[in-house]
Amino acid sequence: MKETVVSGIRSTGKLHLGNYYGALKNFVQMQHDYNCFFFIADLHSLTTHPTPSDLHGNVKQVLVEYLACGIDPELSTIYIQSDVPEVAELYLYLNMNAYMGELERSASFKDKVRANPDNVNAGLLTYPVLMAADILIHKATKVPVGKDQEQHLEMARTFGNRFNRLYNNDYFPEPYAFSYATSLVKVPGLDGKGKMGKSEGEGNVINLSDDPEVIRKKVMRAVSDGGPTVENQPKPEAIQNLFDLMKVVSAPDTLAHFEGLYNQCAIRYGDFKKQLAEDMIMATAPIRERIQAIAADEAYLSKVAGIGREKGRESALKTIRDVRELVGIKSF
Ligand code: TRP
Repeated sequence: MKETVVSGIRSTGKLHLGNYYGALKNFVQMQHDYNCFFFIADLHSLTTHPTPSDLHGNVKQVLVEYLACGIDPELSTIYIQSDVPEVAELYLYLNMNAYMGELERSASFKDKVRANPDNVNAGLLTYPVLMAADILIHKATKVPVGKDQEQHLEMARTFGNRFNRLYNNDYFPEPYAFSYATSLVKVPGLDGKGKMGKSEGEGNVINLSDDPEVIRKKVMRAVSDGGPTVENQPKPEAIQNLFDLMKVVSAPDTLAHFEGLYNQCAIRYGDFKKQLAEDMIMATAPIRERIQAIAADEAYLSKVAGIGREKGRESALKTIRDVRELVGIKSF
């Protein structure tokens, strides 16, 4: 039996190169080795009160882009969270033994309160409970998330174990963070500082859906410097970042060529960036084309969402029936 993996995808924003090479490419591989549930977390995003059309548009975009990247609706279950109402029902049960104190102590809750002091709603407070429901509804044991989600996973274990204790059983297994890294790739942003991430602004990221012209503009504006003055000198961070990006998208001999020019102080960053932009355009072309094709194919999208809903609900209903029974909710 394959182990079950659950991964929640926030339904905000476009996917960028960093998302793809840093994580999604691994997910595409992972589908073959695990029983994977990928869902688009539209209920979670209600905490920030998106407009109805923004919400729907974002869900569509995320679905389109995940499919374009190679998440396969036959291999995996890919669904929209709100299509599986059993998740909301489990969330309700779990809320009954999630305590104010522990929810208020969560680091992400405190961050959000600090960032938005006038929208401290109960959904925000109980975000970790909904996340626990997402995971426990499929009795998943593995959750591919980063460090920032560790505390949420710990809470998911707490809520699952508490349920087990309360009802005297060992129904829910413990979910743990896991990293399915066949290739861990570093994808820096274009601002010369850290990782590629959209919180640093649109100019810092190359979106998978960006048109070639947009990619060229962004890359030409990437932070560099006046160039090396001493042979074989170490690279400053901004320059190293551009080389790291080239390592991701270009052929090894292209990279070696520019390394050589750098070491001889003969590199021209204009030419270097032009090459980098063209290689980014080439590397993303198949995904960009699939994004366009899938986005235009409403019939395909509705078929995929329907298959996901069915498979997601089948698994969720199994759990929720057991849970109702354990809790003592029975029909007459
Ligand atoms: N909280 C996660 C994030 O911010 C998204 C998420 C919601 C999730 N439910 C989940 C991730 C369940 C994994 C499993 O990225």
